[in-house]
Amino acid sequence: MMTVTALIVAAGSGSRMGGDSPKQYRKLGGIPVLRWAVMAFADHPRVDRVRVVVAEGCAEDAYRAVGGAFGDVEPIVGGATRGDSVRNGIDAIDGEIVLIHDAARPFCPPAVIDRLLNALEQYPGAVPVLPVNDTLARWTEILGEPIDREGAARVQTPQAFHLAEIRRAYDQWQGPFPSDDSLVARNAGLDVAAVAGAHELDKLTTAEDWQRAEERIAGRTRSRTGMGFDVHAFAGAGPLMIGGIEIPYERGLAGHSDADVVLHSITDALLGAASLGDIGQHFPPSDPQWKGMASDRFLLHAMALIAQRGGIIDHVDCTVICEAPKIGSYREAMRSRIAEILQVPIGSVSIKATTTERLGFAGRGEGIAAQAIATIRLPTGL
Ligand code: CTP
Ligand code: MG
Repeated sequence: MMTVTALIVAAGSGSRMGGDSPKQYRKLGGIPVLRWAVMAFADHPRVDRVRVVVAEGCAEDAYRAVGGAFGDVEPIVGGATRGDSVRNGIDAIDGEIVLIHDAARPFCPPAVIDRLLNALEQYPGAVPVLPVNDTLARWTEILGEPIDREGAARVQTPQAFHLAEIRRAYDQWQGPFPSDDSLVARNAGLDVAAVAGAHELDKLTTAEDWQRAEERIAGRTRSRTGMGFDVHAFAGAGPLMIGGIEIPYERGLAGHSDADVVLHSITDALLGAASLGDIGQHFPPSDPQWKGMASDRFLLHAMALIAQRGGIIDHVDCTVICEAPKIGSYREAMRSRIAEILQVPIGSVSIKATTTERLGFAGRGEGIAAQAIATIRLPTGL
């Protein structure tokens, strides 16, 4: 089995974009650009891991941008130019295949990743390209020589390579690195396949690109709601995980995972809003890999599926139903943890609690139930 690593270079300063922070850390449609880029790979079934290259001293910004979602791996420190950042990245990873991608291209369609990986079965490298449809010419103040566009292509990222080959190509390059890895590869004599690219992959370079991307997201969304419900029975001693935090209580909840009823019901509400089935379909209780799993993993997955489809989470509301423990003093901590996982403002998360006046299973203290509702926006047509 070939190990596929997505290497996302995010060590630039975004000088042409302007703004108070580098473009990869700014939110587009409510989600940081870097996170969009990471998610496209993290949820692709053929990508094994995602590594991010960031500027010196920016690890915190990167963690914040990805919301701790993929925070188990250290970011790699980049260099002065994009090429230096790539060089540091390919030296820091292992495995057989690398997909080198610009953080500044937040929307990578899964089909492009498939096309690139398929092409690597025959070639040492592969890149996505789009045809050039405008007239091309050299220019300064006035127009100079025309450039023949026949057979010309716009070359995008991700660019896929056999890791050993691209490393060797970088070793062979003399002088400052260029801004495109396929140039380095071709210079070393590697055949680089051209597969169909996508307009969604166009790089965010200027403020105008940003505006267009915002409009594309906003103009194409429709509001949707979903509901979720979950129950777990008390069994054994604590800890009790509710709403992503540990609550001191003498009893814990039984379940295959950590039995966090609040995160489970919110996950189901989000999946429901996106018509993506339910938590059991995505994480079957019969599958031993989810045993004892922290439920923030489930919530992240639902969030990632929505984000991958260009969706935005507007609000989640959850009611915890139990006689004890009392939830009130943990409410703010739960809201803040859930907001952190979902990358939304705390005002977009609501937690309520109620008893059932001692009626039913919750009233008899046999377990805890939670009900949730989620409001999201998804691109029309999904
Ligand atoms: N990049 C990098 N290391 C650098 C320079 C760029 O990792 N030293 C990354 C950027 O973060 C970006 C990608 O390479 O994801 C493409 O670069 P570009 O669009 O030029 O981004 P910036 O260099 O940040 O922008 P600018 O050139 O306008 O300053
Ligand atoms: Mg640059």
